[in-house]
Amino acid sequence: MDPKSKGSFYVTTPIYYVNDVPHIGHAYTTIAADILARFKRLEGFETFFLTGTDEHGQKVEKAAQERGVDPKAHCDEMVKRFQSLWQRLNISHNDFIRTTELRHRTVVQKILQDLYNRGEIYQKNYEGWYCVPCERFWTEKDLAEGMCPDCHREVFEISEKNYFFRMSKYQSWLIEHIEKNDRFILPQSRRNEILGFLANPLEDLCISRPKKRLKWGIEIPFDTDYVTYVWFDALINYVSGIGYGSGEGSFSHFWPEAIHLIGKDILTTHSVYWPTMLTAIGLAVPKMVFAHGWWTVEGRKMSKSLQNVVEPNRLIDTYGVDAVRYFLMREVPFGLDGDFSDSAMVHRINSDLANDLGNLFSRVLSMAIRYFDGLIPSPSSMAETDHKLQEVSSKVLSQLPQQMNDLSFNKALATLWEIISASNKYVDENAPWSLAKEEKDRPRLSTVLYQTLESLRIIALLLAPFMPSTSEKMWSQLGMEDSLWKQNLKENGKWGGLKPGRKVFKPTPLFPRIDSSKISFEK
Ligand code: MSP
Repeated sequence: MDPKSKGSFYVTTPIYYVNDVPHIGHAYTTIAADILARFKRLEGFETFFLTGTDEHGQKVEKAAQERGVDPKAHCDEMVKRFQSLWQRLNISHNDFIRTTELRHRTVVQKILQDLYNRGEIYQKNYEGWYCVPCERFWTEKDLAEGMCPDCHREVFEISEKNYFFRMSKYQSWLIEHIEKNDRFILPQSRRNEILGFLANPLEDLCISRPKKRLKWGIEIPFDTDYVTYVWFDALINYVSGIGYGSGEGSFSHFWPEAIHLIGKDILTTHSVYWPTMLTAIGLAVPKMVFAHGWWTVEGRKMSKSLQNVVEPNRLIDTYGVDAVRYFLMREVPFGLDGDFSDSAMVHRINSDLANDLGNLFSRVLSMAIRYFDGLIPSPSSMAETDHKLQEVSSKVLSQLPQQMNDLSFNKALATLWEIISASNKYVDENAPWSLAKEEKDRPRLSTVLYQTLESLRIIALLLAPFMPSTSEKMWSQLGMEDSLWKQNLKENGKWGGLKPGRKVFKPTPLFPRIDSSKISFEK
């Protein structure tokens, strides 16, 4: 490990169903993971950020059949939609795992064989109800008026032999683990939900599907008439993606430092199936599973049938990538549900980004060019107001790491905005344009402009994980020569890093104001 490293950090997103058209729900988790990864890298952690796609199962098989193509060829085409969106959203993942890759299939089969050899997996006859769209079994008492309790669609009675993982045997261990580790499942409300679920007997998990019903999956190594249940396959990506079992790669370095970011609907699989699977395999469980809320659109559930699916590509085209990243993280606390509307988005852009940040940046840089030919002036004696501005920024720097560890992205941004507001206030109160009128005020003018330029440098640095391209633009226009991404938050976030005598550049507008009457709000 690098001697300067603060340790290792590993963050994951769910692997998305390859069939889906990426929407803001997918973008949301991936942006959050990206912000966390970028923040940790700037803090000096060796960071691994994994995302990918979930490519097996009935839905993919069916979609491929309908198009008359081979399922793998279908996945190869579909996966590009996610990969190109992550590129547009400036996602800095270290790897992208696809469950159809050999490196993943090998690990899944190895784990299955090992669990089977050790009696953790057994075969029995199963009688119950099956929901095709959800690809899962229900018992008679689970059903809601004879329908699937999750999607409310028709279920089919089946009786078949299948393989089961002895999940029930880990129930009391799991309860104890959750009770002892109050940050294992966050937010608290979700932790309580899982403890409530575990108050009832936990059943063994069916982990196979007969090939006569489904071919598109990872073959069970000890019985070639079966493929692996898609969730058992998918969860393993979190270890196969960092080289588990290959004897090389980053596994020993990053496991079990993992933080799994997920949506609230897939909490049971991540906080019940996954930790019990890991324990049976003989691996430590991840540090944290954080379940975020869901986005609705103008108060309604997002769905294909309502034709209100918010496509991130449209948002990027209309508002720009950083405005999208900012809005999703600022508008709603990460663990709660949120509502998307274009008008809320326009409001945020105009007030926070164009007015507060964009104006500050362009007026300070323009004054530096006008009054000092763009050369960063040297500060002279400091007044109380100068110290105050400095204090705001050091307070923010000290608060951010904890807020980020708590995944309180909206709070972290609100905190960061305190420097922006304090700087705007400072400019207004010190009125550099008046100081520029008299030669005797020149030393004061130098100090005021140095202070505000330095503030902007710190803002650019702290904002970098949230709005990477905006920060890069600010960084280079402030004349900073070292790469933004090589900075260390603690050291370079301290006041005084800006070197007098360097040249700043003519500012280009960061966030032009949006005239909402010119935006067409159609979906
Ligand atoms: N393939 C599984 C995950 C396997 S992880 C080992 C899956 N894929 S998914 O594509 O259906 O969903 C991925 C994520 O998108 C989930 O975390 C889900 O919560 C999230 N969202 C889907 N709709 C959403 C919103 N409307 N709002 C926020 N997130 C939403 O599940």
